[in-house]
Amino acid sequence: MSKIDFNNSNMLPPGSLGLPFLGESINFLAQNDFFQKRQNKYGNIFKTHLLGKPTVVMTGIEANRFILSSHSDHFSWREGWPENFKELFGNSLFLQEGQEHKKNRKLLTPAFCGSSLLNYIEPMENIIQNYCQEWINKGKFLWLNELRQMTFDIASVLLLGSQSGQMTQNLSKEFTKFSQGLFTLPWNIPLTPYNRAIKARDNLLKHIEQVVLERQENPQNDALGLLIQSEDPQGNRLSLDEIKAQSLLMLFSGHETTTSMLTSFCLALGQHPSILQKARQEQYSLNIGERLTIEQLRNMPYLDTVFKEVERLYPPVIGGFRGIVKSFSFGGYWIPSGWQLLYLNKGAHRDPQIYTNVDQFDPDRFNLTRAENCDYALVGFGGGARICLGMAFAQMEMKIFASYLLRYYQWEILPNQDLGLKPIPTLHPRSGLKINFSAL
Ligand code: HEM
Repeated sequence: MSKIDFNNSNMLPPGSLGLPFLGESINFLAQNDFFQKRQNKYGNIFKTHLLGKPTVVMTGIEANRFILSSHSDHFSWREGWPENFKELFGNSLFLQEGQEHKKNRKLLTPAFCGSSLLNYIEPMENIIQNYCQEWINKGKFLWLNELRQMTFDIASVLLLGSQSGQMTQNLSKEFTKFSQGLFTLPWNIPLTPYNRAIKARDNLLKHIEQVVLERQENPQNDALGLLIQSEDPQGNRLSLDEIKAQSLLMLFSGHETTTSMLTSFCLALGQHPSILQKARQEQYSLNIGERLTIEQLRNMPYLDTVFKEVERLYPPVIGGFRGIVKSFSFGGYWIPSGWQLLYLNKGAHRDPQIYTNVDQFDPDRFNLTRAENCDYALVGFGGGARICLGMAFAQMEMKIFASYLLRYYQWEILPNQDLGLKPIPTLHPRSGLKINFSAL
């Protein structure tokens, strides 16, 4: 691996700041290969101007380590988000830093890892089974849309205390309006998408408040129930307003990302029959009865490698934005505070020093013999203190889904569709993945 020179330099990275005011934002939004083109031209660090701010883009294992871990105090998570996010999400983990972030992350963690995950297996299984049954009746459909509904159902049942069915459908409509407000002009005047998003947010928060009040009378072990009960050794608890804001954030951060990764999983296995067959064999060898157990879920090493390979080649998000709060030098370049940073996971995920045949879908690269990996080479869930809070939750949900799919169903990717990948809002095939679904 080439050694990075961290010595001070007054030289800004290569690249272009584009047009006055607009910078390169239009190209960024319009071109799928915006970053690839610049990386080919300038290398693993370059400057540009995105969404109103001068921006440095960095990629590669050393950049990941620098940003996510060793120099994370140079970066502000909060300042990496556009203004819309700040208003719509209120005081939730996304906008918290330092001690406040640390304290709240500790309070949120018990609902998303360890033994609490056991409580989620059965509700996840029930929802997944119902969707698979519906898909049998439908036969041909766009899988991306269906998977989006399924992951929303799971998240709203476990995180918002909803009931699968009509209630979830109503919440889903509100959630769509809410999400549309995140990527629009922040004009809060009647009939604008932003105004509708604020109203939808208030309706979602009202729903969560009602459920929290019910849960306080009648405690339950879903994620929302655990957030209400959570207490740290100093006796700190989340207030009602904090629980509402954090639950809404979880719903948002877990929904599109999991949908994207599941869609890519289905696409990749549909295109690689021998890998599909090997994954099926592993499921059959586990002699799974009517219900999955946590031991069985933990004992699927081949499926684990398949998901790692999906994370490497099809990461749902391209990386992450940060605000730069302290100037720094990296790779012989100097980057001033006040700029914005974007780290891209692609440089590490396709680093030929770590991964052989980088463009090939090859789960075995992660098995114990080949073990092609090192710290910060696989960052589809981020890394360091701000690594994805819902990683174990998402991984369990995806494995339960995969296990059912592999044991009982088959799918054929229909011809004449555009399977080219679009990165925004999360990676997905342009066509939405048209398939024909049937029982095995
Ligand atoms: C396949 C599914 C998922 C992927 C690929 C994913 C990816 C990520 C990534 C890359 C980050 C860090 C971004 C950065 O460094 O800028 C992140 C953070 C986060 N994710 Fe996920 N995520 C997934 C599912 C979930 C789920 C299911 C939840 C909640 C139930 C969740 C909650 C969060 C939260 C709260 C953070 C911020 C953590 C903090 O600020 O401390 N994610 N996720």
